[in-house]
Amino acid sequence: MKTAKLKCVIIVTYFLIASISAVKSSTEELTNVKRSDFPHEFLFGAATSAYQVEGAFHEDGKSLSNWDIFCHIDGNVIDGSNAEIADDHYHRFMEDIEIMESLGLTAYRFSISWSRVLPRGKLGVINQVAIDFYSKIIDNLVLRGIRPFVTLFHFEFPHELEERFGGWLSPLMQEEYVYFAEVCFRSFSDRVKHWLTFNEINLYAEFAYERAVFPPLRCSPPFGDCASGNSDVEPLVVAHNMLLAHGQAAKLYREKFKSKMDGVLGITVSAFMYVPLTDDENDKEAANRALAFNNGWTLDPLVFGEYPPEMRKIHGSELPRFSAEQSLLLSKSIDFIGINHYGTLYAKDCIHSGCICNDSSCTAGSDRAIRGYVYTAGERDGIPIGERTGMDRFYVVPRGMEDIVDYIKERYNNVPMFVTENGFSYPVEKDDSFQLHDVGRIQFHRSYLAHLAQAIRKGGDVRGYFVWSLMDNFEWSNGYGIKFGLYQIEHPTLKRIPKLSATWYTDFLNKSTIFDAPISCNDASRLQSQ
Ligand code: BGC
Repeated sequence: MKTAKLKCVIIVTYFLIASISAVKSSTEELTNVKRSDFPHEFLFGAATSAYQVEGAFHEDGKSLSNWDIFCHIDGNVIDGSNAEIADDHYHRFMEDIEIMESLGLTAYRFSISWSRVLPRGKLGVINQVAIDFYSKIIDNLVLRGIRPFVTLFHFEFPHELEERFGGWLSPLMQEEYVYFAEVCFRSFSDRVKHWLTFNEINLYAEFAYERAVFPPLRCSPPFGDCASGNSDVEPLVVAHNMLLAHGQAAKLYREKFKSKMDGVLGITVSAFMYVPLTDDENDKEAANRALAFNNGWTLDPLVFGEYPPEMRKIHGSELPRFSAEQSLLLSKSIDFIGINHYGTLYAKDCIHSGCICNDSSCTAGSDRAIRGYVYTAGERDGIPIGERTGMDRFYVVPRGMEDIVDYIKERYNNVPMFVTENGFSYPVEKDDSFQLHDVGRIQFHRSYLAHLAQAIRKGGDVRGYFVWSLMDNFEWSNGYGIKFGLYQIEHPTLKRIPKLSATWYTDFLNKSTIFDAPISCNDASRLQSQ
């Protein structure tokens, strides 16, 4: 009891200090937010992805995926873990859906495991057990008034496709993907209204083919020293194949399945905000270039039918071209944009002034070069742009949420948007003390939401917000050490334990009050008694 009291005092003090310094640090910083700041029909949800939560990696006909193979090679995942069991969502999905209902969510974003549904791709049979599994999830969500948002590709696919023809480096992957998409549309589009074809083509191409932290671990210097790969060209080829696959799937959806419930289809982008490192005009341009390279790489083709002019200018013939027919297929092929936003970085021009980052050290830590002769960093003169988190490049800059929405609104004529991911992880060394009493996470969501509300007031057509993530899960190459969940997963029991942020989210959604600092001791004890 004494310890609980002490913990509570620490939390309250921490929160108080954090709030005061938040107010002090920036007069522009907004922190107060309530449900009624958002439109009535605005959706509030949480997100997960199949590989990160399901487990059951080799059960009921699922084949081994690219990630299953990757995780079982020593050294690939920081803590040596794998996702054989993960959160065991495959067996516990009913409990998880009940949690969503108790939180008061009106939407849930999840992905469908390609290697579960089509263990051998087009070659083999459709795994009916997998179709039934996702059907049950969808039915139970719908029954509880929770809108399913389904992502088709969230980094995971049958390893056999990598073996047979080299995965996304090959145009053959397009047909495989469209077949997978068709199976999913046919099975679920009578109950699923919101589809996302791909999660973060930009991040996937970079992590798997430029920096080699995702399978198939391909890269070349100065980005890394891989057995094979070409960091300059392969990410462009991979993204090109994915964009064309998206275009074909979108066409198929609109022609054959959309009418089932007047559904909509979009895509997500990993959408950092970039601000110039200095007031120098060249750095301002670098920040614009970084935005165009990061978001425009995916979104320009899907809205305008062509890669961003900023990219064409720099890459020249390295950047693949779309034929007139392909360009037509791609343009206007999304009904909405999914924004995965976590943080903001500084951008420095490397065309006019050269950059300190011109060797492999760029790939380490938070400072590194990205395409487009831009050096991006989380610090200026040793001072971080925002609070550090568990992820190298995710600094807490709430204003970035408003800015990125403004940017996407302007560039893409206010196509409807959803914030499909936004979340916070403590630095690993702090996580234990704040695991359940995660006031930092509450502070994060409140301030990002406050800026999101501001962007909406300024006219941004944003229609929903998803916390990443419903529960702690397998954080890719980072294993289980980095945690984003509203719920903790206790090991080895796999018991779901609500964090204080889960309580905050429920209060925010259901009571429509400002859950303001400081958090009282009652909140802490309410949590403990659950
Ligand atoms: C991915 C998630 C991941 C999150 C945090 C996003 O880029 O879509 O799968 O867990 O970032 O790293």
